Amino acid sequence: MSSQNEQTFVMVKPDGVERGLVGEIISRLENKRLNLRKITMLEVSKELAQTHYQEHRDKPFFNDLINYITSGPVVAMVWEGDNVIEVVRKLIGDTDPKKAAPGTIRGDLALDITYNLVHGSDSEDTAKREINLFFRPTN
Ligand code: PPS
Repeated sequence: MSSQNEQTFVMVKPDGVERGLVGEIISRLENKRLNLRKITMLEVSKELAQTHYQEHRDKPFFNDLINYITSGPVVAMVWEGDNVIEVVRKLIGDTDPKKAAPGTIRGDLALDITYNLVHGSDSEDTAKREINLFFRPTN
């Protein structure tokens, strides 16, 4: 079911920040007519990284993923729009940048499956969980 007010969590990963691609990634989402609702830059702690990626804890790449995501600042965001979860995943492209279609963020700007620039929630439940994790209500 699609909703005008659907929200998703998007994170520019450390390689995206280091390479100066935050503006480019935000522009691609803005140009698609999606709305930026929240944004913050932070260093992800090991604990937060492990919670965020908990569903992958048994995967062989888990430790590399945690080391990578904690290696430098990230930009965490909430984006809103019609069917935004699926739309953002399409704009980001395949997990493996080598397979990602040209025109997608990973297809145009990345080459390595670990250093794949950006994360977007994959379902409504995941989006709610990730937004609450990174943008906890303060009171
Ligand atoms: S899977 O294996 O189908 O569950 O993978 P996926 O849900 O697409 O993404 C898993 C997240 O782990 C990151 N990552 C890797 N995935 C697959 N293989 C390797 N080697 C790997 N290394 C890191 C991948 O980028 C996904 O991160 P997010 O932040 O969710 O995009």
